[in-house]
Amino acid sequence: MIIARTYEELTAARATLGQTGLVATMGALHQGHLALVEATRQNGLTPIASIFVNPTQFGPKEDFARYPRDEAGDIAKLEEAGCALLWLPGMEEMYPAGSASTVHVNGPSQHWEGTQRPGHFNGVATVVAKLFGQMRPNAAFFGEKDWQQVQVVRRMVTDLHLPVRIIPVPTMRETDGLAMSSRNRYLSAEERKAAPKLHAALKHAVQYLLAGKEPSATLHNARHELAVAGMVPDYVALVHAETLEPLASLQQPSRLLAAARLGHVRLLDNLAVC
Ligand code: PAF
Repeated sequence: MIIARTYEELTAARATLGQTGLVATMGALHQGHLALVEATRQNGLTPIASIFVNPTQFGPKEDFARYPRDEAGDIAKLEEAGCALLWLPGMEEMYPAGSASTVHVNGPSQHWEGTQRPGHFNGVATVVAKLFGQMRPNAAFFGEKDWQQVQVVRRMVTDLHLPVRIIPVPTMRETDGLAMSSRNRYLSAEERKAAPKLHAALKHAVQYLLAGKEPSATLHNARHELAVAGMVPDYVALVHAETLEPLASLQQPSRLLAAARLGHVRLLDNLAVC
């Protein structure tokens, strides 16, 4: 695996590769990231990856400083997964002095994480646009766990006519249903036992909705399940799967989104409804 730390190293390496599939990450890699690397190969592309903990997508009170970092471990995992190129930019490569441009995506960024984390999606869209410009992938693979992020990136790529195919990959889960996330390592043993209840509540809600139960009563029930499990829900919502506008009645394509706090950890999950 070629490791590029400067833009010159990146462009030299990129020129030696054919059709590529990008896995953009903030490191602290787990099986979910490695499934994205595998998906690039299944799509006939050469896997390339980036690791950059992007400060502009963290709010002032969020965990940028203590976000898990494990460069040596991540490099070993990507090597083993057969990644061809790893882009490891420093801050000055991504945000050189004088940088003055940001990408703001309206529409799918407006609610949910957009409300809970003001500015988050500006940071995501900006850094993803930069990564696309720097790495020139033919396709980019994103985990469905961050469903809203996938829709924001898709919207950006469509609106800005960027020549990158966006390929969502199903959420990787632990055996008890908990969606894999770099932040799961912060859960205490007791919280780890409670955490799969988020996925369970969403599964129950999908069943109720498909059985004809009212969305508002279903969402109320899901919030109650989370509260009983010791979580503080930020939102549980039935939304249009692409625009992410809230839905008052069931229609296609729809998705359930949820975010809940468990101790100091914020858990996110989502499921397709119909
Ligand atoms: O999903 C993530 O890890 C990040 O939001 C991303 C896409 C790498 C942008 O920093």
